[in-house]
Amino acid sequence: MVTRGRSHADGCFTGRVNTWRLPGSHAATRRLEGVPDILAETLRTVLRRFATGVAVVTTWDGDRPWGTTVNSFSSVSLRPPLVLVAFDHERRIVPALRRTGRYAVNILGEGQRALSDCFAGGPSPRDHSASDSSDGSDERDRLCGAEWRRGATGLPVLVDAIASLECTLVDIHPAGDHDLYLARVDSATAAGADPMPLLYYEGRYLRIERAVSLELEGKQER
Ligand SMILES: Cc1cc2nc3c(=O)[nH]c(=O)nc-3n(C[C@H](O)[C@H](O)[C@H](O)COP(=O)(O)O)c2cc1C
Repeated sequence: MVTRGRSHADGCFTGRVNTWRLPGSHAATRRLEGVPDILAETLRTVLRRFATGVAVVTTWDGDRPWGTTVNSFSSVSLRPPLVLVAFDHERRIVPALRRTGRYAVNILGEGQRALSDCFAGGPSPRDHSASDSSDGSDERDRLCGAEWRRGATGLPVLVDAIASLECTLVDIHPAGDHDLYLARVDSATAAGADPMPLLYYEGRYLRIERAVSLELEGKQER
């Protein structure tokens, strides 16, 4: 399932961190010579300008449910139905993802900021104490106290998420300090009508105070 340094009929990856090289021409890579590496801090500052939703990825770690907050969730394809999430190599959820080969994505609503914090290693939404309790267990062992159920495919799904998707991994693609977990959607549910999402922007949560709905004039993805 894991792919490394994959080649492609129309070109190939080059270098330690792969760079796409156009077939029959090195112009694309030559142009980058002499350009200093972008600083991680600069990149972080720029990328923080991209507002995202917030989701909790859940899976089974043996017989306990486990979850982690993410904002790297992205839709990829409708036919076949594919999504992806980027996980840092160090995330505790990684071994469970690789063992089960499945994950659920629970998209959080505007009232679920405390859950997002708890699944990101912050305080419990119940008592706002430190996430690691005195008996050595972790709030996330209990899915941060959130109500959950077994979804259509048996994955743990948060009941109050505004939408949830249950997925099967199809590929894990290495990408720097993260891996891209590409998955096929087996089941998807949207709860309620017009719920407000929890948003993340500039390293803070953002709530929509006044939604203005504007006509889209560009081409929509089909
Ligand atoms: C809003 C938000 C979004 C995040 N998105 C991601 C993500 O996409 N990928 C990732 O690996 N970590 C992400 N994190 C970080 C993890 O949720 C956080 O580090 C968590 O504590 C990881 O737990 P663990 O490594 O202890 O299991 C995000 C955190 C927050 C607060």
